[in-house]
Amino acid sequence: MQTSKPQAFRKTDICVIGAGYVGLTSAAGLAALGHRVRVVETDAERLRILERGELPIVEPGLEQLVEELRIAGRLQFGSEVAAVDGVSVALLCVGTPPRPDGDPDLRQLGAAAAEVARHATSDLLVVVKSTVPPGTCDAIELVCREEARADLRIDVASNPEFLRESRAVEDFMNPDRVVIGTATADAAGRMRDLYPREWPLLLTDRRSSELIKYASNTFLAVKISYANEIAALCEHLGAEAGAVLEGVGLDPRIGSQFLRPGPGFGGSCLGKDLSGLIAVSAGVGLDARVARAAQEVNGWARGRVVDKLERALGTLDGARVAILGLAFKPGTDDVRDSPALDVSAVLRERGAWVTGFDPLAGRVEVVERFGDPYDAVRDADAVALLTGWDDFARLDPRRLAATMAGNVVVDAVGIISADEFEAAGLEVLGVDRGTPAEIHPVILRPLAWTQ
Ligand SMILES: NC(=O)c1ccc[n+]([C@@H]2O[C@H](COP(=O)([O-])OP(=O)(O)OC[C@H]3O[C@@H](n4cnc5c(N)ncnc54)[C@H](O)[C@@H]3O)[C@@H](O)[C@H]2O)c1
Repeated sequence: MQTSKPQAFRKTDICVIGAGYVGLTSAAGLAALGHRVRVVETDAERLRILERGELPIVEPGLEQLVEELRIAGRLQFGSEVAAVDGVSVALLCVGTPPRPDGDPDLRQLGAAAAEVARHATSDLLVVVKSTVPPGTCDAIELVCREEARADLRIDVASNPEFLRESRAVEDFMNPDRVVIGTATADAAGRMRDLYPREWPLLLTDRRSSELIKYASNTFLAVKISYANEIAALCEHLGAEAGAVLEGVGLDPRIGSQFLRPGPGFGGSCLGKDLSGLIAVSAGVGLDARVARAAQEVNGWARGRVVDKLERALGTLDGARVAILGLAFKPGTDDVRDSPALDVSAVLRERGAWVTGFDPLAGRVEVVERFGDPYDAVRDADAVALLTGWDDFARLDPRRLAATMAGNVVVDAVGIISADEFEAAGLEVLGVDRGTPAEIHPVILRPLAWTQ
């Protein structure tokens, strides 16, 4: 990756709080733009990994970029928020996980803001990169004023992050938009200076900026749930969901991204931000009906994987089910809110013995985890494909059929060639295929109307 271009408008000393997907990528990206960046991480294990020159997360291209920038002296890691001493910008990139009631837990953010304000020795611009409900930046400003020295000026800006895990560096360095929300012209000017002039900046107020992130993720969630609902309809009508959704997505007003059926969306963002938007709306007396529907359909889409397995096997009690794919999507080790978590939990609750395989994923509660897909499917009555890893498209159906005890394959991500698997004697239940039937009951009503 080129680290000489593009360049930020003005070089700044920046402190990044939190070395997760967003913090590490933003820190490396900003250092690559020419800034000098210090990263503060309080998790001792994460910090040890970083100090060994490794990364605590899997993200293509990031490890090499971090190493180059560290050698160039533009990126440092530490545990001390005292690193904020002398910096003029502090980026808060800490977690905002969901609470059981759907609202985000903002305690990490509040603590990080208080820490940076307490340690500030000069005027400071605190930038909230974490995803937060509208109004949070106003609240963070009050927290900072309370903690900072009275003679210092502390501004707070919103700058939500839109990177996608598994393409984080690419997304950060080639953004389709950089959204900035500020309360003062001075803060807006300083935020502009962080990024290259040619990047597409959207400057607005803080609450609008915060809401852009929630509203974007909610729309993506709605699109996926809509695709899952249409795919289910296709299954009942004997239509091909792949073709239907491709045809729908070719309309540029709709677009084909996030319009594929699957086991429901997962990951640390969509579900959390969807419930965040629902909770924010409820807080001001509005019922976010479209968002609630997307949430409900997502739970149903996950449940359909279990239903298909149960129907095909007769009972799950005592059945052996192999889950191939545990990460919430291919290309990442992240298992936060992964559909595999839910599916595995329900299968085990109903008495199934669940084995699992994933090339990268972190810990998921399955009964037994294997390092090879064929070991995971040994003696399985059924296999469920839950993450669309490219390697799964190359699974050998004959070897799979010979290794399994049963013959049921639920392809929830539409990755295998159903014809080849069926030719090997396997029964494939996909998300992508209609029920083949020559005289399907669906034609009876139109037939009656034509008489
Ligand atoms: N992961 C994504 O794809 C993504 C994309 C866009 C936005 N976001 C948002 O960005 C935020 C961060 O997400 P993430 O996935 O990077 O989270 P993460 O959990 O991977 O990383 C957060 C890090 O912050 C550290 N931390 C917490 N409090 C700290 C403190 N006071 N000082 C120093 N370090 C501290 C934690 O130890 C952790 O390493 C969330 O609000 C998330 O919704 C995430």
